[in-house]
Amino acid sequence: MNQLSDRINNLATSATLAMAAKARELRAEGKDIIGLSLGEPDFNTPDFIKDAAIEAINQNYNSYSPVDGYVELKEAIITKFKRDNNLNYTLPQVVVSTGAKQSLANIAAVMLNPGDEVILPCPYWVSYSDIVKLSDGVPVEVQTSIENDFKMTAEQLEAAITPKTKMIWYSSPCNPSGSVYSKAELRALADVLKKYPNIYIVSDEIYEHINFKGGHFSMAEFDDMYDRTITVNGVSKAFAMTGWRIGYIGAPDWIARACNKMQGQITSGANCIAQRAVITALEADPSSIKYMVDEFKERRSLILNLLSEIDGFKTNEPEGAFYVFPNISSYFGKTIKGKTINNASDFSLFLLEEALVATVTGEAFGNKDCIRISYAASQKDITEAIRRIKTALS
Ligand SMILES: Cc1ncc(COP(=O)(O)O)c(C=O)c1O
Repeated sequence: MNQLSDRINNLATSATLAMAAKARELRAEGKDIIGLSLGEPDFNTPDFIKDAAIEAINQNYNSYSPVDGYVELKEAIITKFKRDNNLNYTLPQVVVSTGAKQSLANIAAVMLNPGDEVILPCPYWVSYSDIVKLSDGVPVEVQTSIENDFKMTAEQLEAAITPKTKMIWYSSPCNPSGSVYSKAELRALADVLKKYPNIYIVSDEIYEHINFKGGHFSMAEFDDMYDRTITVNGVSKAFAMTGWRIGYIGAPDWIARACNKMQGQITSGANCIAQRAVITALEADPSSIKYMVDEFKERRSLILNLLSEIDGFKTNEPEGAFYVFPNISSYFGKTIKGKTINNASDFSLFLLEEALVATVTGEAFGNKDCIRISYAASQKDITEAIRRIKTALS
């Protein structure tokens, strides 16, 4: 008999991690799988950051840190927010967590009561809906279109708002679509939200630096949104530090205090060595990571060119992050190599089994017609993967 709680029984397994596990299984059977499913830079953490961690170990940073992070790290975050985002935060407004994922889980836990609705423009990052559900919130999906670059319009936002709406969560640059909201597009959303003062905003900016056109804008930069916006960021993507597990928020101080209280009962402060290393990462000029962004930009051109040569892949032009999110619905209903493809999950599985390429179904991101392909892989692997996909489908 299943003795587990309804909470865990109702929780979906992360689709990106599930696909990675399936790819690992096939590799163990000796299959040569190319993994384009994970949202993880394939670079190493820069040496100057690793050196800072080694120094912290030698300086005996081994005790519990303050729950919300070392003051020196919070100061570096405040300077970063000012330098890169024109945002003014004070120490009590900043909380350091074990990855942006924990920052988001804290926010859901401290902001949501049972039945509170959270608007998620689709496609959204895979964990948003389950993090919201874990805190008894109700995700409300808003379908966007590839024609509008997968961005939610002001009209769509307004139509989704109900008396139960508590929050809206989005990422820009977006995982999985790569879309970046312009200042004008965010202003249009803010003009709607102005009419609903009890709705709070999560602006997830973890891909901020992986932006190919520039012009990153934070919702909290608008004076009339500042008191209602929680700015989420972290070092996983920009600094190739996924395993170090450091994320952070800048928020109204009452929300930050609540996150601090929550974290104090669940995990305490984030890893002390990683925190010291992140001080060095954030104090560095963002130009120190430009070589990675330049490489991602080249790969984006490569993968878009290669995909344009395959029938039935319709893509937008991602302006940031390291994913393409092609609409592959023209394959639905077709049978290829004896396998019938009825939806994006079938298609992604077909690519894994017949092309030996791991991708992720769009269903995990709230979109039934697309798949996500990560180009955080070498140009050689990208080229070979798309060649295999083309062959398998032809
Ligand atoms: C949009 C988005 N937000 C948050 C996260 C979580 O990042 P972290 O590694 O800091 O927990 C990810 C990771 O994939 C992401 O893509």
